[in-house]
Amino acid sequence: MTDSILDLRAVTREHGTGDALVQALRGVDLQLAPGELVAVMGPSGSGKSTLLNIAGGLDAPTSGSVRLAGTEIVGMSATALAALRRTSVGYVFQDYNLVPTLSAVENVALPLELDGVGWRDARRQGLEALDRIGLLEVADRFPDEMSGGQRQRVAIARALVGPRQLVLADEPTGALDTTTGEFVLTQLRDACDAGAAALLVTHEARYAAWADRIVYLQDGLELATQGAV
Ligand SMILES: Nc1ncnc2c1ncn2[C@@H]1O[C@H](COP(=O)(O)OP(=O)(O)OP(=O)(O)O)[C@@H](O)[C@H]1O
Ligand SMILES: [Mg+2]
Repeated sequence: MTDSILDLRAVTREHGTGDALVQALRGVDLQLAPGELVAVMGPSGSGKSTLLNIAGGLDAPTSGSVRLAGTEIVGMSATALAALRRTSVGYVFQDYNLVPTLSAVENVALPLELDGVGWRDARRQGLEALDRIGLLEVADRFPDEMSGGQRQRVAIARALVGPRQLVLADEPTGALDTTTGEFVLTQLRDACDAGAAALLVTHEARYAAWADRIVYLQDGLELATQGAV
């Protein structure tokens, strides 16, 4: 597929050596077209977070190819990769990773400011993004003044702000009640319907049901892929 937003070929990732060798990924192929939401499921330790980190250029594969919007990122310089990541990839980490010294709206506006958007405009877009997820009232609070679920939603707003081509979400619904979780999925689904591609790690079938496809990982291998019912 030439028009893939994400194209992984024969990707492996090994940690350590000898007896301590861990094969986190053992040859994964995955292509994501614009508009596609793909769920990644599998037991703890099966390589889901490793897959997302490699897809977003936060970790390098031991072997294999990773193309982001047509550009091979394996072997790219750290500076070029950081620029590509900033403009193209939105990331929701398993542990949120909000900047503790920035307020909610400053966290959401950060990727825009890093892209060179002026702070007034970035703040306005940040407030709009928070409004969309029903969190305008926490805009000026710091992460340690928010609940876990609020922090998670702020992280999602940050991943979706601006023109993201690829959204990577590692269990973004973990700390959320069902209603808020479903709401987060509608946000991801909307981003994909607007042309982005997204990878969503989830343990819950009801969230995976929003995806176009489900990829099952086990021991670093793709067990099967199926269309969602
Ligand atoms: N830095 C590291 N050094 C050594 N082993 C690692 C490292 N990072 C990950 N691993 C190992 O790689 C494997 C895959 O880890 P990964 O975090 O991708 O799993 P996961 O599917 O996201 O699990 P979970 O559902 O618990 O988040 C695990 O066996 C893990 O222990
Ligand atoms: Mg994980």
